[in-house]
Amino acid sequence: MEQKVQPIDGQRTVYKKLSLEPNEAIDNQKKIRLRPVALGNVPWGTSAPADLYLHRGKELSLLFRQNQDLSFESYAEISRGTDRLYYDKDNEVDWQSLVESNLITILESPMPTRGKAAVAYGSASRQTQKIFEDFNEEAHEAANTTVEAINKLMKEPEAIESFFELTIHDYYTYTHSVHVYLYSTMLTRAIIGDENDAFLQDLGVGYLLHDIGKKDISAEILNKEGELNDEEWKIIKDHPETGYELLKETAGNLSDEVTQIVLQHHEKYDGSGYPKGLKEDEIGRYGKICCIADVFDALTTNRSYKEAMSKAASLTIMRDSPGHFDEAMLAQFIKLATPHL
Ligand SMILES: [Fe+2]
Repeated sequence: MEQKVQPIDGQRTVYKKLSLEPNEAIDNQKKIRLRPVALGNVPWGTSAPADLYLHRGKELSLLFRQNQDLSFESYAEISRGTDRLYYDKDNEVDWQSLVESNLITILESPMPTRGKAAVAYGSASRQTQKIFEDFNEEAHEAANTTVEAINKLMKEPEAIESFFELTIHDYYTYTHSVHVYLYSTMLTRAIIGDENDAFLQDLGVGYLLHDIGKKDISAEILNKEGELNDEEWKIIKDHPETGYELLKETAGNLSDEVTQIVLQHHEKYDGSGYPKGLKEDEIGRYGKICCIADVFDALTTNRSYKEAMSKAASLTIMRDSPGHFDEAMLAQFIKLATPHL
């Protein structure tokens, strides 16, 4: 029988009656200030690091006392009604490290795939942000661990659908990197199958780090609203080569496939891309895949200078851009994405 998540001891607080701000409550005569924590940042399968509250309308209910078990069944039920819980701001909880140190337990748990995908996505975004801040051997290792965890999760039936739901965002280089890795890996698996874990792992790290050459480009240039001047455009055009050099320095020899991904992800099928203006079969398979994923994510996320387009409209635009992409590969991407839009 399904277990119901009940507030503890009927403890509910109604803000209105207490004339408190929406982010304040009274618990045991003590006024507390509430902070939200996304469900994906709660370390499910372990014990609650602080009292956790559910906030519905103007009502607040205490769901978990500190140290109480955060069961996966509870997650399944709670996630149907909300995407966050609340805790007392005075409890200084480092949610991110808690999830990071329990990641494998969470991803191997019986928690629904959607929940695991949310946890994995949050973790990958944070890790990738750190990787871009300080790229060294340790960061490269973190990229490997992130890809290993998500590639494993990708084998679960609902994973693709869950990731398509999660990739709605403003644009940051690190979330873009995670999205491009996710889309590219989905397309790669559709093209070559999902049996060769080691190969998919190598490719995954390449996809995740395809834009590492942008790590030192200023936000002014990356987010510039008007047209780039010659000097700025040169800086942008150099990022594939810079990324390739950076990766070689930290990871040693790169496979041909990772080299293709990093150096060729802005090459276009008709030769109109950069940095080399390669065309057709001069561009490797994995460079072509990464290009499709890269453009799809650029179209579907908000930038400072443009609104995000819907995923369906973005695919239509891509299909109507003859010459930019390998047509057969784009058709495969549209086929895999369409049921999840
Ligand atoms: Fe790029």
